Amino acid sequence: MKRVITFGTFDVFHVGHVRILERARELGDCLIVGVSSDALNFSKKGRTPIYSQEDRKKIISSLQFVDEVFFEESLELKGDYIEQFKADVLVMGDDWQGKFDNFRSQCEVVYLPRTPSISTTEIIEVVRSTER
Ligand code: CTP
Repeated sequence: MKRVITFGTFDVFHVGHVRILERARELGDCLIVGVSSDALNFSKKGRTPIYSQEDRKKIISSLQFVDEVFFEESLELKGDYIEQFKADVLVMGDDWQGKFDNFRSQCEVVYLPRTPSISTTEIIEVVRSTER
């Protein structure tokens, strides 16, 4: 049983999110997702997500290729979460290429290519720009 873990905010859920989660799941038998808490997201990206952490967690939990979901409360705790959830593989988007290589002593670390031309930030900008 190979356990895969990944992390993200997954705000304003879009197809890039679906694709990375689908591909992450294909690397093992079970996918665990750490959804950034609202507080962590604010400290990381300087904005409160559009969707609350409970709603983001509910959306991710509803996906057929996701098995377990929890809140990631701090970036400093990644190693602890990997340990706690007994993850064999850590998957991150390649916007993080090289940034998590220090976890290679704990588990396999895989960076997957991002889906081109879509992001939460861009969706928010497009919606804002069409406001009257
Ligand atoms: N992701 C992806 N392809 C995209 C957008 C995101 O593969 N086009 C992946 C990221 O690499 C990450 C996960 O989805 O592993 C969650 O990313 P998140 O930061 O929540 O989404 P973004 O759309 O990148 O959000 P933002 O614009 O706020 O940075």
